[in-house]
Amino acid sequence: MTLASSVMGVIFDLDGVLVDTAEFHYLAWQQLADRIRVPFDRQRNEALRGVDRVNSLRLLLGAHADRFTDAEKDAFCAEKNAVYVKLIETISPKDLLPGAGALLAALRETAIPAAVASSSKNARPVLERLGIMNLLQAVVDGSEVAVAKPAPDLFLLAAARLGVPPARCVVVEDAEAGVEAAGRGGMRCIGIGDAARVGAADRVVPSVADITVRLLQDCALS
Ligand code: G6P
Ligand code: MG
Repeated sequence: MTLASSVMGVIFDLDGVLVDTAEFHYLAWQQLADRIRVPFDRQRNEALRGVDRVNSLRLLLGAHADRFTDAEKDAFCAEKNAVYVKLIETISPKDLLPGAGALLAALRETAIPAAVASSSKNARPVLERLGIMNLLQAVVDGSEVAVAKPAPDLFLLAAARLGVPPARCVVVEDAEAGVEAAGRGGMRCIGIGDAARVGAADRVVPSVADITVRLLQDCALS
């Protein structure tokens, strides 16, 4: 069996891996935190990376949660999302992170199927604006599973849609919750960025530009 003919698939997280929407999520949460007078900054925002909307609000409010009713918390999520939706309107193909487009194109050349599995309910409009839908064989977003990362559900659904066994899938993630989700799904994982965050991954690289088809193959078959 040659490497090229081996069954495998690659599942990408979206925010912080293919596009820097992490900054837009931060700006939208910061605006809300300032308005409701809850202390928040970039450092606190790190804990929200890869965490779904409701749980992000829980982390943002922390000890201040008791000041607000459930109805107010629902409204805060909607308010943050409205700001975020406005911010992503500016996204275009030039916002693909360096190396992301080339890697997706190389996977297509090698006939290795690629998916995006994101906790974000806004993943599809972002992918459309990035112009990479045609390079993906499957997309799973946060509206399609009951439990978010670190549960493995998003990744397992993506693997099923690719028709690739989880043990032959490689996940590319920038968040601790995502690395954990990949492990719980029985998948290999390449972590991007700070080892303090993604150190539990099978491999850690500085950015998506450092990932080659060869590295993904080695990882899938190891
Ligand atoms: C991704 C991002 C998180 C975000 C989550 C939900 O995982 O990394 O920062 O909170 O998606 O996004 P949404 O667009 O549904 O609020
Ligand atoms: Mg991410």
